[in-house]
Amino acid sequence: MNVLIKGGTVINAERSVRADVLCKGGVIADIGEGLKAPRGSTVVDAGGQYVMPGGIDPHTHMQLPFMGTIASDDFYSGTAAGLAGGTTMIIDFVIPNPQQNIMDAYRQWREWAEKSVADYSFHVAITWWDETVHADMETLVREHGVNSFKHFMAYKGAIMADDEILVNSFTRALELGAIVTVHAENGELVYQLQQKLYEQGLTGPEAHPLSRPPEVEAEAANRAIRIAEVLRVPLYVVHNSCRQSLEAITRARNEGQRVFGEVLVGHLLIDDSVYRHKDFDVAAAHVMSPPFREKEHQAALWRGLQSGNLQTTATDHCCFFADQKAAGKDDFRLIPNGTAGIENRMELLWHHGVGTGRLTMNEFVRVTSTNAAQIFNIYPRKGSISVGADADIVVWDPAATKTISVKTHHQNVDYNIFEGMTVTGGASHTISQGNIVYADGKLDVERGAGRYVDRPVFAPYYDALKIQAERARPVSVQR
Ligand code: URP
Ligand code: ZN
Ligand code: ZN
Repeated sequence: MNVLIKGGTVINAERSVRADVLCKGGVIADIGEGLKAPRGSTVVDAGGQYVMPGGIDPHTHMQLPFMGTIASDDFYSGTAAGLAGGTTMIIDFVIPNPQQNIMDAYRQWREWAEKSVADYSFHVAITWWDETVHADMETLVREHGVNSFKHFMAYKGAIMADDEILVNSFTRALELGAIVTVHAENGELVYQLQQKLYEQGLTGPEAHPLSRPPEVEAEAANRAIRIAEVLRVPLYVVHNSCRQSLEAITRARNEGQRVFGEVLVGHLLIDDSVYRHKDFDVAAAHVMSPPFREKEHQAALWRGLQSGNLQTTATDHCCFFADQKAAGKDDFRLIPNGTAGIENRMELLWHHGVGTGRLTMNEFVRVTSTNAAQIFNIYPRKGSISVGADADIVVWDPAATKTISVKTHHQNVDYNIFEGMTVTGGASHTISQGNIVYADGKLDVERGAGRYVDRPVFAPYYDALKIQAERARPVSVQR
């Protein structure tokens, strides 16, 4: 299908320009004023609208087996919901069980993702360590286009990575030219605080944030940053939820360290009062880690985004129905952790970011797609409206208004944590690989149309880092 997007204003991270955009063969073929539609093209009237790179959500968990159940949005429904909200690519996570062969887990996730309707890629979690993991990391990098490895510093007794795993994996990632990422929470502290709260009779969702205070996150963020500093490997800290972890990132960046920070749209907008809701289902629906925080943290996170110390926005989309959350009815430690958001990220960020003057439109593009594409090395194929880039585009109507609701969302879950929020600005058309997949409120998607996206390593830059790391090694004592 050829698609000509006519009469809009193209917004990239670096500039805005009035131009038509021609999509041909799945890529952007031409950009300019007064473009003529080739015979048989579909024309999208973008008058009064903005033409932007489709969103990239760098942190999702579709159909994740987690805490005794499976996340309810699978790769089909979850990527479709993303397209309805203007997100055209996800980076999900392969999460092997401890001792599970990493390549087996990778193949399993690739198979699950075959039903995706939008493009996708995978970070791979390192949840244990031995020589096979060391070898498999190389196979993933060299043969499967994986350039990022994830480490959960929480979830003790399950997928938690201790310092030994962190040091081994960070060292290996640098050798291979890959970036490392962390879920920063001190898993031991969380575990012990959970036990204590439960023994004190605090068994409901209100105990969840008490078991994971900001200091628990800050300690882990700081530890990961310092380990990465010693080993000289670039680090990306996922879902920063509090002022203290932002401060750790800001400090490191000011010292010249290559550290990146992600913020979830939920952490920007929702506070911890949700855990004290009298209805268990409502409170449990918000149980995720790190938890929603007191309001002062939201203000800090917005400042982090505005200042550029946080570079990406994500959702950590990982949803569970109320009957799945009910597993923790009598014990908050058993409530499956995770919330949905892929469908609403772009419109919420536009409304609360661009609509309030916190972000320019160019900055909006930067934090919803371009920075993720650059950090994970798929730019300018993704995250850019430029000739030759994938035709993953959102046509954005700044005047569209809607009230977010579980009754109208496409996410496969019976609750929406943004329920009742009214937003101005939203996707009128989403184009994926040059095809119109969402228009006038309707999805038109094809199961399996999404492609796996290879992400190459950062070779020349890493060569310099490796030389530095070598020079920094302690000199052996001469006899
Ligand atoms: O609560 C969350 N965030 N669930 C998904 C797994 C993770 O920690 O990212
Ligand atoms: Zn996490
Ligand atoms: Zn996550």
